[in-house]
Order: sequence, then C-alpha cells, then structure tokens
Amino acid sequence: MEGAKSCSCFATISVALVLLLLPNVAVVCHGGKTSTFIRKVEKTEDMPLHSDVFVSPSGYNAPQQVHITLGDQVGRAMIVSWVTLDEPGKSLVHYWSDDCPHKRVAKGNHFTYRYFNYSSGFIHHCTLRDLEFNTKYYYEVGIGHTTRQFWFVTPPEVHPDTPYTFGLIGDLGQTFDSNKTLAHYESNPHKGQAVLYVGDLSYADNYPNHDNVRWDTWGRFVERSTAYQPWIWTTGNHELDYAPEIDETEPFKPFRHRYHVPYQASGSTEPFWYSIKIASAHIIVLASYSAYGKYTPQYEWLEAELPKVDRTKTPWLIVLVHSPWYNSYSYHYMEGETMRVMFEPWFVKYKVDVVFAGHVHAYERSERISNIGYNITNGRCGPSKDQSAPVYINIGDGGNIEGLARNMTNPQPEYSAYREASFGHAILEIKNRTHAHYSWHRNEDEYAVTADSMWFFNRHWHPVDDSTTTK
Ligand SMILES: *[C@@H]1O[C@H](CO)[C@@H](O)[C@H](O)[C@H]1NC(C)=O
Ligand SMILES: *[C@@H]1O[C@H](CO)[C@@H](O)[C@H](O)[C@H]1NC(C)=O
Ligand SMILES: *[C@@H]1O[C@H](CO)[C@@H](O)[C@H](O)[C@H]1NC(C)=O
Ligand SMILES: *[C@@H]1O[C@H](CO)[C@@H](O)[C@H](O)[C@H]1NC(C)=O
Ligand SMILES: *[C@@H]1O[C@H](CO)[C@@H](O)[C@H](O)[C@H]1NC(C)=O
Ligand SMILES: [Fe+2]
Repeated sequence: MEGAKSCSCFATISVALVLLLLPNVAVVCHGGKTSTFIRKVEKTEDMPLHSDVFVSPSGYNAPQQVHITLGDQVGRAMIVSWVTLDEPGKSLVHYWSDDCPHKRVAKGNHFTYRYFNYSSGFIHHCTLRDLEFNTKYYYEVGIGHTTRQFWFVTPPEVHPDTPYTFGLIGDLGQTFDSNKTLAHYESNPHKGQAVLYVGDLSYADNYPNHDNVRWDTWGRFVERSTAYQPWIWTTGNHELDYAPEIDETEPFKPFRHRYHVPYQASGSTEPFWYSIKIASAHIIVLASYSAYGKYTPQYEWLEAELPKVDRTKTPWLIVLVHSPWYNSYSYHYMEGETMRVMFEPWFVKYKVDVVFAGHVHAYERSERISNIGYNITNGRCGPSKDQSAPVYINIGDGGNIEGLARNMTNPQPEYSAYREASFGHAILEIKNRTHAHYSWHRNEDEYAVTADSMWFFNRHWHPVDDSTTTK
C-alpha cells in the first residue's frame, strides 16, 4: 500500500558518481604469496553490552536496528527493516527525495518470535516500491512515536557499462575488531555503494542458549552502515541457530525473522538463495547450509538461474557463498567440497568472474582455477589453471569472537595467489564491462592502504589472463 503520488518525480541524476581517479598505483605482483605481515596477537573479544555502539536510541518506542536491502531484483524497491521494543507501533515508512519532497508512505508488517526464553521486539519490514534509479531518498521510521530519519541511494539502472562499487565484509560478529573493520570500511575513500555480505552476522549462538539479545546488539552496532546502504545478505553457519538441546529446531529462525531479502523476485522459494542485479553486475547468493544436491530446490533454482544471466546487460557475474570451495588454511577442511563438486562445472561453463566466501577467518585470493576434470577413474584430481573459472576470494576476516584462522597448509598450493591471517574488508570497483579493480584492506593499516589488489578482466568481454602471480 502506498500513498498516491501527488507529483511526478523524474529521476534526475541526483547523485553524480564521483569516481576519484587517484593516480593508479601499479598493479602489485604477488608470486603465490603468503604474506609475511605479522599481526599483533591479541584476544578477540566481544564488545561489552554497555558499549557505545550498542546504545539504544532514546525516546518512547524509538526504532532501532535499522537496515535496508534491495526489495526487488534490480533496486527499484527497497526493504526497510527496524525493531521497536515498547509496543508494535506502526510499520509505516515515510519517504521522499530532493526532486519530490512530497512524503510518500509505505506500509509494512511486524513480526515477533521467541527463542528459548528470549522474546523478540517488534520486527518491522516495509518495502518501498516504484523508486527511481540512482536517486537519493530520505526515509523516516517510528511514525506515531519517536521518529528517526535516514537516507539511501538507489542503484543505477542495469546497464553493461555502469560503474558501481561494492564493499565486501564477512564473518563480522561484534568484537572490538569487528568495530574496526566496519570503521575502516566506512572511512575507505573508495567505500562501496552497497555491501556484499558473505554470512555469519552476530555470532549470538556463541552465548548460552544463543542469547538473542546479541542479535539485537549486532543490529544496533551495524546500523550506522546498514541503514544507509543496502547490505546483500548471505547465510552462514552462525545463522542456523539449530539447538535441539533447548528445543529450538527451526533452522535460521532469528535470521529469517530479522533479515528479509527479495528472494521471490528471482524465483527462489527460500530467502537463503536468490539473485539481484545492480548496475552491471548479476549477483547470485548461494546457501551453504540449505540442501544443494541434485533435485533439491536450490539446485533446480541455480540450474534455471545461470542461463538467465545476460552478459550483454550484466557483464559481471558474481557469486556469494559462505563456505569456501578453495581455501588453504587448516580450518573447515573440505566443508565446501560437496557444493564445489555439484556446482563448479556450471561456474566454469557460465564463466563466473569471482566467488566471494567467508567462514575461514582470514584472507585469501586464488588464481583462476578449476577442478572439474576428475571422473572417478582418470585420476585427474588436482586444480589446474582455467581462464573460464572464477577467482575465489575468502573474505571471512571481519573480526568475530572466534578469532583469526592462523594455521595454513604448507607449502602454499599453486592455486593460492595471496593469503594472510589478518582482519579486514575488501572493495570491488566495477569500472566498465571489461575492468574492475579489487582491493583488500587489513585493519592494522590505515584504512586507505591496499594490502592486496588485482584488476579483474571480465570473463565474457575481456577474458585475458588477469592473474597477478604470473606477471
Ligand atoms: C534465560 O535463561 C537463562 C538461563 O537459565 C537466564 O540466565 C536468563 O536470565 C534467562 N533470560 C530471560 C530473558 O529470561
Ligand atoms: C567503534 O568504532 C567507532 C568508530 O570508529 C567509535 O566511535 C566507537 O567508539 C567504537 N566503539 C568501540 C566499543 O570500540
Ligand atoms: C574418464 O576419463 C578418461 C580419460 O580422460 C576416459 O577415458 C574415461 O572414459 C572417462 N570415464 C568416464 C566414466 O567418463
Ligand atoms: C595450529 O597450529 C598449532 C601449532 O602448530 C597446533 O597446535 C594447532 O593444533 C593447529 N590448529 C589447527 C586448527 O590446525
Ligand atoms: C574500462 O576501464 C578501464 C580501467 O579504468 C580503462 O582502462 C578502459 O579504458 C575502460 N574501457 C573503456 C572502453 O572505457
Ligand atoms: Fe562460518
């Protein structure tokens, strides 16, 4: 339900993409490098409940934990979510733009859930529709009681040469390191316009009875970013919250109530796998913890989805998944292997540009490799260079309470281009249909320092070797 538009708003290019073309630092060459960077060994601790980042906004029934994500497949709709604690209040959002200051109103719904002895607040989700592309919208929640105002910019219309910048964060949690990761991302001069989040959000399940209060604190902690730019959610193992010992047997219960995603827009039947299109990128979110074997809903969805990717409209094909397929640390050994066996031939066939994963709490970037030659009898069981294959990037280094994954397998496998056990975030700057610049930023440096980088050459439009260890 939406209020009548009383003025017609033409999307003007209200937000100029100011691409600061800094002098281009020469492409750094890494020869299958294990970084020698030595990080200070400190305990990774959750921020205490009284921390500044967890403070609830003041005022009766003030909306908190505000976050947004796309509300359709292309960004002409936005889902606004928030929580009120005193009473349900109204699930209304008022929104307007500079070109059309007349306030429109959208109505959503609220939900509650119980988890062991925790009762959630009133969780509101409201979809704003018929938005103009590339337009700054202001929005207000908490109508009727304490209101709070935020803003976001809708993505530009899907077009093969439209530049767009994504932030990449994974396995964030709510430690002092998590706060540093988020702060570095926010201060990065190349900061993204949306965040691709590779799963494991709050780590509330680390607490007795999965104390869901830590879902609320996480929502308040990340609000300073999630209220202003869409975060594209992937589910990790810490979203499962499957705890039969306390009679909690509905997987993903907290996540499903708190984080709504536009899965139906891409024909998915569950919020754990879906796709969106932003600017020149087609992004596929996969679910490591939902069935993906042959004939399962996720398998059938992906099988139907990949042929729909039109590289003439969205040159960049990006996949997000929690559990990595290629990883040379000694953690979560082979956990991603079964999904790799199922889907890797498709990724090579459809020339996925890059796969981002998390789960292993460290950083690693691979060469373009595939391991699809094996057929039980021929013994071809190792990965080999493949220019049709994606680059695999592990960005599970957000800084959660489980600490860093430090142990690596040795020697460094040939497929591994760069690895380092540090917390950080990454940025993917799509420039046009052929070029995208990627950079990784470790928390221990000043936020603008690039610790690892490469130029991605698009697999459809410019499929030449873009590896950075062979040059
Ligand atoms: C839930 O149960 C735990 C353990 O019995 C207890 O410490 C905690 O205070 C309870 N929380 C609520 C909200 O009742
Ligand atoms: C978290 O980071 C923000 C931004 O740098 C800072 O203002 C705040 O004090 C930090 N809080 C904690 C508990 O570290
Ligand atoms: C496996 O590969 C070998 C050599 O590439 C080939 O001779 C054999 O027929 C293949 N087996 C199957 C079951 O495809
Ligand atoms: C990491 O390495 C240390 C020292 O070699 C060893 O004690 C520990 O068990 C290893 N941990 C894992 C998860 O492999
Ligand atoms: C695409 O972007 C790259 C990097 O900025 C640039 O070198 C190249 O000339 C661009 N291509 C076109 C066709 O503009
Ligand atoms: Fe994980």
